[in-house]
Formats: sequence, C-alpha cells, structure tokens
Amino acid sequence: MDSVFITRRIPQKGLDLLEDVVEKTIWPGDLPPSKEQMIEAVREVDGLLCLLTDPVDAEVIAAAPKLRVISNYAVGFDNIDISEAVRRGIPVGNTPGVLTETTADFAFALLCAAARRVVEADRFVRVGKWQTWGPRLLLGADLWGATLGIVGFGRIGQALARRAQGFQMKVLFTDPAEVQILPDQPGVLRQVDLDTLLQESDFVSLHTPLTEQTHHLMNQERFALMKPTAVLVNTARGAVVDSHALYHALLDGTIAAAALDVTEPEPMPGDFPLLLLDNLIVTPHIASASVTARNRMAVIAAENLLAGLKGERLPFCANPQVYDQV
Ligand code: GLV
Ligand code: GLV
Repeated sequence: MDSVFITRRIPQKGLDLLEDVVEKTIWPGDLPPSKEQMIEAVREVDGLLCLLTDPVDAEVIAAAPKLRVISNYAVGFDNIDISEAVRRGIPVGNTPGVLTETTADFAFALLCAAARRVVEADRFVRVGKWQTWGPRLLLGADLWGATLGIVGFGRIGQALARRAQGFQMKVLFTDPAEVQILPDQPGVLRQVDLDTLLQESDFVSLHTPLTEQTHHLMNQERFALMKPTAVLVNTARGAVVDSHALYHALLDGTIAAAALDVTEPEPMPGDFPLLLLDNLIVTPHIASASVTARNRMAVIAAENLLAGLKGERLPFCANPQVYDQV
C-alpha cells in the first residue's frame, strides 16, 4: 500500500476516501509540523496531503525521494515550490470551485461589516458606551450604489461581482487576462488598470493569487491613489498587502477602513500594531470555512491524492505542465 503523510486532521469525508486504500500518517498536532518535522515525516512517503500553512519548498520535496503527488487542501498554492515539483514531475493538486461562493460570501460580509462598522459597533455596546440613539453615532458608508473595485476577476472575483449586483453596485475590475463582460453581468462596467481602479472605487476587494507580481501589490503609493473614504478588503493572501503601509494608511486617514481575512504576518499576533486601530477588522483566514465548503475541499484533496498515487491525471491540478513533459 502507498504511504501518505497528512499534515493535519482534515474533515472526515476526505479521510473516509483514504481508509484502507493508503497507509496514512496524520500529523496529530493542532499546529503545523515544523520544517524539521515535515522533512522527517516525508522521507518514505508516496503522497503528501498538506495545508496552506505548510511550506513545501525544494528542501522538503528533496527529502521525499519517493514522492509522486502533492495534494494541497486549498485553492491557493503559494506555499508550494511549483517549479521544483514540475522539475521532479510531481503533480500538485488544489481545490478550486468548491469554495468560490463560500469565499465570496465572506468577502461580501467583510465589505458590509467594514462599511457599516459592525465590529466596532459591537465593541461599543459591550464596553457600556451605548447611552442613547445618536444622529451621528457610528456613521458609515453605503454599499448600495457605490463603486466596487475587484482586483483579480477569476472565479471568486466574479462571484463577488454577482453579489454586488444585488446591491446595485458598479463594478470595475482588473485582471492580467482580457476578460469579456457577459450580458448577465449588468453592474460590471469595465476592465481597467489597477491605478484607475484604486482612484475610482469606494470599495476595493483583492482576489489575486500571491505571486512575485502581486507581492505587496497594495503599498504606500497605491494606498495614496485610493479615496480617503475607501474600504479595502483582503481575502486573497496576506502578503498582497504591505502591512506596514496599511497601518499608516489607516492611521493617517489615507483610506477609511480595511477588513482582512488574510494577514502579513499570518497568524497575526494579538499585540500587532494594526490591531490597535478601530477602523480595521481582522478574521483568522476563515473565508472558506463553511461546513459544506470544507467537506468538499476534503473530498477533492483526497481524490487528487488518490489519482496521483494511481498515476492518473489529478482532477484539479495546479501544475498541468507536468503532463506535458516526457
Ligand atoms: C484558502 O485560502 C485557500 O487557498 O483555499
Ligand atoms: C480561486 O482561485 C478561485 O477563484 O476559485
């Protein structure tokens, strides 16, 4: 039987598919294995099922001479050295599609929460500051009719645009590829460059993968282009935003508010300076965390793993170049 290492306990629906067909070792901790523990654990394995918190770099891959498949329990795969996997001919699986709507729901929740100061208002009540109804108490911004800039118009970005239609928002978007706007996307106005999007949007939501090109895409110069009333939402990857620049943009009013589900660093320690700001909402990377989405991700991750072990094409492969090599 092929032997696999699973870096954390994933939902049972995925583990059930592996029962009696592979010999599996599941990392027992709630925290990720360290690099050394990872290297130790992969020495003899044929397959690896890992999480976005597990760096699978050239060193880890090199430590696993028998490795034939890497299955990431995530749609993003910036934690994996893809070119090294390609060099070794190892297919890398990811879990697109099943978390698209779930993640877009959460991005929209953050937009609403930041625009209408929901978290700040909750804190206000809990500390006993609520004395009367106030004509100027906790005023926020309307989502309705506002302009939403979507940075990265892939599956999740487009799913967010569908939600924005219900709020009669005007949608601008950027994407590295030319995207055709379909007739059933009435609120979607046009594809623009990033600077135009930042200048014209009331809300900006990030939906790009983390790559060399998108690392610190949101930096001091880019914040300076935004409206002082604008709200930034990040459900993509933490390092797409320069945390230091964001701190200053929020502190000095360059932008009005931000809501982050992904952070730099991640996890963000409780005493991190950004957390002193009232105009910031932070959640611990939970945009895909619905019961349904996480179950479906577990099934796909298991199916990718099993396909790779059988030498079949992965149902969802992040590096299909491996199949073009001879
Ligand atoms: C979550 O961030 C994912 O990439 O699935
Ligand atoms: C992520 O890349 C998605 O759009 O599903």
